[in-house]
Amino acid sequence: MPSYTVKTFGCQMNVHDSERIEETLRAAGYRASAEPDGADLIVINTCSVREKAEQKLRSLVGTLAPLKASRPDIVIAVAGCVAQQEGEKLLSRMRQVDLVVGPDNIAELPQLVAAVQGGSPPIARTVFDIDEPVFLRAAADPRGVGPTAFVTVMKGCDERCSFCIVPHTRGPERYRASGEVVDEIRRLVDSGVREVTLLGQTVNSYRDPQRTLEAAPLSDVNDADESEFPALLRRIAQAVPGLSRLRYTSPHPRHVTPSLVAAHRELDVLARHVHLPVQSGSNRVLKRMIRRYTKEEYVERAERLMSARPGLTLSTDIIVGFPGETDDDFQQTLELVKSVAFSGLFGFKYSRRPYTPAQKLSDDIPESAKSERLGALFALAEELQREKLAALVGSRQKVLVEGVSKAGSGRVTGRTERNEIVHLADEREISLVGELVEVRIVRAFKHSLEGELSDAERARASSGRPPRRALPIFSGEA
Ligand code: SAH
Ligand code: F3S
Repeated sequence: MPSYTVKTFGCQMNVHDSERIEETLRAAGYRASAEPDGADLIVINTCSVREKAEQKLRSLVGTLAPLKASRPDIVIAVAGCVAQQEGEKLLSRMRQVDLVVGPDNIAELPQLVAAVQGGSPPIARTVFDIDEPVFLRAAADPRGVGPTAFVTVMKGCDERCSFCIVPHTRGPERYRASGEVVDEIRRLVDSGVREVTLLGQTVNSYRDPQRTLEAAPLSDVNDADESEFPALLRRIAQAVPGLSRLRYTSPHPRHVTPSLVAAHRELDVLARHVHLPVQSGSNRVLKRMIRRYTKEEYVERAERLMSARPGLTLSTDIIVGFPGETDDDFQQTLELVKSVAFSGLFGFKYSRRPYTPAQKLSDDIPESAKSERLGALFALAEELQREKLAALVGSRQKVLVEGVSKAGSGRVTGRTERNEIVHLADEREISLVGELVEVRIVRAFKHSLEGELSDAERARASSGRPPRRALPIFSGEA
């Protein structure tokens, strides 16, 4: 049986794509190999959203060169955004690479590998599936299903944020029919998944191709930013009552419309947390970034979301050192972060990307200023997070137990219905993986919480999975 190994760089979207790559290969008769040495096929799934993507790829391919020299039959394939972006050029730049395969061509991977093994010269296959978009379904994982899963609802991006390479590497927006999304979620829940995160580059610009086919009215709301995303959320909540939690990432602030806010007010299944990238707190910079909202519009939408559900928190993405960003612009970003009081934040130094509108702007903020601004941003974010976590000590939280901590402490961890990480002190809780339990928060750390279960709650949760609809509904903070 041929074997494969997959190396993944980048975002959640890419991790999800790597799982689809693995499933495609397993369905074609491959088995996983932990180490490249023993594999017949090595897939490198790349990301080019932020700097040095190609260098990273080059250095990994470099480390594989001796292996390829000793076993020329090994196939090295490059997938993901760098593959899409550079296509054939990669083949001439990196002689060890046999195959370049774009994100929309994953399903063709086994045939392409077979062609290379059959003696074909190196192949680059990077064609967007514009007319008939394919969304690979998550297959049952032979390693067992965890309590959380991701489901893609759209791909590509029609925004043109001036710093971002995604529209180039992932193509125009294409949406998955709502019936297919619901079926996949139902199947996942039937096999033990409790929490689903809907994925898309601007997930809330979703339009339902199925609805268009059925010729139903798009929406009775006359707003260009209105999408069918809130309707999709409602449909999922209604059709899959066994789902405990529903998240989505990442929404664009432009499509945080009254109907989406109403969905948060009405649907208990929606997590009390939204990751809503803002990028900057300066209107001047937002305009140059082509984000298509002002700071005031962002804050208004953020407030509407937070007041839709008590205790709902927001996290965000911020870029520092965008071309022309002054100290004053950056101060406005800090002000915004303080006023929204984000519960979490990803901060990035601007990096100039090929094929982006901002490429023609001079990358004029010195590296030292970018580092300083990022440092100040992280210090503020930590302070805000610490305050938020400390305020939860003594409260009761509904925690989905997800597994053993990745940090290597061996502790069992889960997440609250917002997104706080909770460690369970008692090692008996390992038996509760996959369960939704009510926990009392006893301690706050810098980035996480510690919680305890009452004996009664442990007994309830361990006495076999209760009917899911009968789970206690937790009513806010204590
Ligand atoms: N819509 C996507 C965003 C893709 S990129 C999503 O669902 O998350 C993720 C984040 O990377 C962006 O929000 C932005 O903050 C950051 N980013 C994108 N391009 C960048 C660049 N050229 N330099 C620095 N950060 C960038
Ligand atoms: Fe990128 Fe902006 Fe789309 S950040 S993914 S172009 S919404």
